[in-house]
Amino acid sequence: MVTLITGASSGIGEEFARRYAAKKHDLVLVARRRDRLDSLAEELRDRDGVEVTVIPADLSEPDAAEHLWNETSRMGLRVDVLVNNAGFGTGKDVVDDDPERLEQEVRLNCLAVVGLTARYLPAMRERKGGTIINVSSAAAFQPMPHMAVYGATKAFVLSFTEALWRETRKDGIRVLAVCPGSTDTPFFEVSDEGTVVGRMRSTRQVLDTTMRALRTSRPSIVDGLGNAVVARFITRVLPKRALLAAVDRVFRH
Ligand SMILES: NC(=O)c1ccc[n+]([C@@H]2O[C@H](COP(=O)([O-])OP(=O)(O)OC[C@H]3O[C@@H](n4cnc5c(N)ncnc54)[C@H](OP(=O)(O)O)[C@@H]3O)[C@@H](O)[C@H]2O)c1
Repeated sequence: MVTLITGASSGIGEEFARRYAAKKHDLVLVARRRDRLDSLAEELRDRDGVEVTVIPADLSEPDAAEHLWNETSRMGLRVDVLVNNAGFGTGKDVVDDDPERLEQEVRLNCLAVVGLTARYLPAMRERKGGTIINVSSAAAFQPMPHMAVYGATKAFVLSFTEALWRETRKDGIRVLAVCPGSTDTPFFEVSDEGTVVGRMRSTRQVLDTTMRALRTSRPSIVDGLGNAVVARFITRVLPKRALLAAVDRVFRH
């Protein structure tokens, strides 16, 4: 079995790599920082005896998905599990932010997810098996003043993935959207947004939740009980204006 993980050089993606290596899957690790991917690859080859292929790539480039797909096809790699995890968040008001960075965020968080999914899916359908895990966020469940673009990209990933779940049920493909809340990773250093909501969860907890959810047939999972209550319940019962005001207060800085 081969698992391809985007954003494997740190945080949640790195933990995905550790988990699938422990399950004896061969890995394809993708991110921009080759040095970090190389040292993780070396560690996992030694520890788990799996084959690890490193492909450095900037997935915010418009044709990144096509390039990555061509590269894995050229190498003869058959991807059984696709983990679309790479992503980042911007945390300024839209009016104050760099338009190019916002566009980059949409290309990485949305375009790459669609591009990779659409390219790896047909072979999974032919084989009548495969798994696609898309990392969304608890931010997907309500509009996010001060993180407007990030929230919208994660809502896109959630909607896209749940629809895909339904489309692919007949083909024996397992599709899951994972929605972490605040998780202890370098995410908060990379984005301009330092607000941690609720108690910070660990990448191990996110992966425990993900692996449990994969054993069920549900289309999406929110990590952490508190996050799940807010995402699945509070955001639905609060009137929209009250919800927007509450999010505004939490994320204003
Ligand atoms: N941490 C949280 O609180 C939290 C909560 C909800 C959802 N999430 C989501 O979880 C996912 C993983 O984030 P994380 O928390 O693990 O943060 P992270 O530690 O900053 O990891 C982000 C990963 O994405 C990669 N990446 C960033 N830009 C890229 C690009 N242009 N091309 C290719 N790879 C790129 C990074 O690698 P390089 O820099 O080497 O390219 C890194 O491996 C993201 O989709 C994030 O939105 C995180």
